[in-house]
Amino acid sequence: MLAKMLNEAKHTVIFSGAGMSTESGLPDFRSKQTGLWENVDPIRLASLDAFMNNREEFTQFYHTRLQAIHDYKPHDGHEILGNWEKRGLVQSIITQNVDGFHQQAGSENVAELHGTLRTVHCHSCEKRYPNRDFINGIFKCECGGDLRPSVVLFGEMLPDDEVRTAELETASADLFIVLGSSLSVSPANFFPVEAKQNGAKLVIVNMEATDYDNLADLVINERKIGEVLQEVDAKL
Ligand code: APR
Repeated sequence: MLAKMLNEAKHTVIFSGAGMSTESGLPDFRSKQTGLWENVDPIRLASLDAFMNNREEFTQFYHTRLQAIHDYKPHDGHEILGNWEKRGLVQSIITQNVDGFHQQAGSENVAELHGTLRTVHCHSCEKRYPNRDFINGIFKCECGGDLRPSVVLFGEMLPDDEVRTAELETASADLFIVLGSSLSVSPANFFPVEAKQNGAKLVIVNMEATDYDNLADLVINERKIGEVLQEVDAKL
């Protein structure tokens, strides 16, 4: 059914969450037992307030996450999406992920709603540095400002240009496929709703049920994304 929808659609947009990268070895946030937020309060570690007032724990938390994107890599599912873009089956990806794995696997049209761990930047002058500098303990910019990962921290606005791209893509989509997101964080979780309201077919592929499954034309739960994408790819 998903293969048929992909073949028939004119403008397919993928909307990915942390569940897209768990098969690469990166934990997601809200899976029972393994999710990052199962054991820590995100506001204590991943917020602007934490960056300002809890710097040691903030730095430790992001040091681990920055190192992880060098230790792990995209899996077959990321590669399949990159291949589908080249074949014209997928027009773009809107991702909440910050690991850069979609681009590493060949996808080019990727809107990163929550920024990226691929770089760090100065909180004062916004100069960007490779994330290796932060991993190696360089926390200060040449201007004297503090360096922080280029991710959207809780309490910060989403990047305008990424949001605009995501809005345009959502408006053009006639097929909108959610891969691996609990859809529990706004405003990112507005996009699937907007796509559906614009008349797109909505597909949600997620291990656990989400609050938006009732909106979807097709829901695939209890299945690993990697396996689903491989099965669909074989039928295209
Ligand atoms: N296959 C299918 N689904 C999976 C897999 C898998 N291999 N692994 C995990 N999942 C599902 C989980 O069941 C979970 O519902 O992916 C979903 C991931 O949801 P979250 O952990 O909430 O991640 P996400 O939706 O991306 O979170 C959104 O929250 O903390 C913020 O900024 C962070 O971007 C993140 C945002």
